[in-house]
Amino acid sequence: PVQVIHNVREMQSLVLAWRRAGLRSGLVPTMGALHAGHISLIHAAREKCDRVAATIFVNPTQFGPKEDFSKYPRTLDADLAMLSEAGCDAVFVPDREAMYPSGFSTSVEPPSVSQPLEGVCRPGHFRGVVTVVLKLFGIAPTDASFFGHKDYQQARVIQAMASDLNVPMEVHICPTVREPDGLAMSSRNRYLSPEERQRALSLWRALERCRLQLACGEHRTAELAAAMEKELISGVDAIEYAVVVDPVTLQPIELVEQQAIALIAAKIGTTRLIDNLLLSTD
Ligand code: PAJ
Repeated sequence: PVQVIHNVREMQSLVLAWRRAGLRSGLVPTMGALHAGHISLIHAAREKCDRVAATIFVNPTQFGPKEDFSKYPRTLDADLAMLSEAGCDAVFVPDREAMYPSGFSTSVEPPSVSQPLEGVCRPGHFRGVVTVVLKLFGIAPTDASFFGHKDYQQARVIQAMASDLNVPMEVHICPTVREPDGLAMSSRNRYLSPEERQRALSLWRALERCRLQLACGEHRTAELAAAMEKELISGVDAIEYAVVVDPVTLQPIELVEQQAIALIAAKIGTTRLIDNLLLSTD
């Protein structure tokens, strides 16, 4: 079974012992409520590393005042069973006090790729994310870390932070795991009623329609975005953004040259969902 660690020093000692033993280690940070998307990151880490650590911490500082921090799903027993089954060696499960003891006051200024899209819709979110992720990198200083393409902007933000601050850790981005019908797996999917779950599929339909339009020769991002909106309007209750942008900077582009990324954030009832698809012209 997975070794459960609550204490910062204990976690640091374990990872440093792996290092001294010459073992290559990997880290998978999560907020729990684990699903097959999270577990695919454990598998990716196991492929590249001798030892794998995960973290489970619902980080309060990355939630806005009107967001779902207090109702975020917490399923620790099931999470531990899934991690054990997947062959995860250790999991760090701190309480709030272990991460943010009284007197805690530092935060990391997020890189410029954090500014558009989620940066506009969720002010302060990425400051909370990069700060907690840099802390987790210090608590579990593994050789590599693994993040999901599902949260594409987050992964790019973390890569930029790690590069800008010379963090000696590889940051890998792994493919999005989807339900058989295409819906991206998410801890927040469990908020959806059966009727909402059906409507949530319109995010994936919009992304597929975008890919199809590009394959048919439509390279104008405004037209591609309009095609996504048309698909979304029938299913979702509010579109926060539906855009095709530069895959590195996430800044607007007029035409898809070689690669671009389509990104969507939309609300179904009170549930906010995101998804994305990398587009390529060849
Ligand atoms: P959480 O939402 O729990 O996600 C943990 C990791 O799982 C992230 O890297 C996310 O991109 C990845 N993930 C989620 N759904 C996925 C899917 N369907 N396929 C592949 N990967 C998926 O993201 C966070 O937690 C937090 O912001 C965190 C980085 C832990 C900092 O608090």
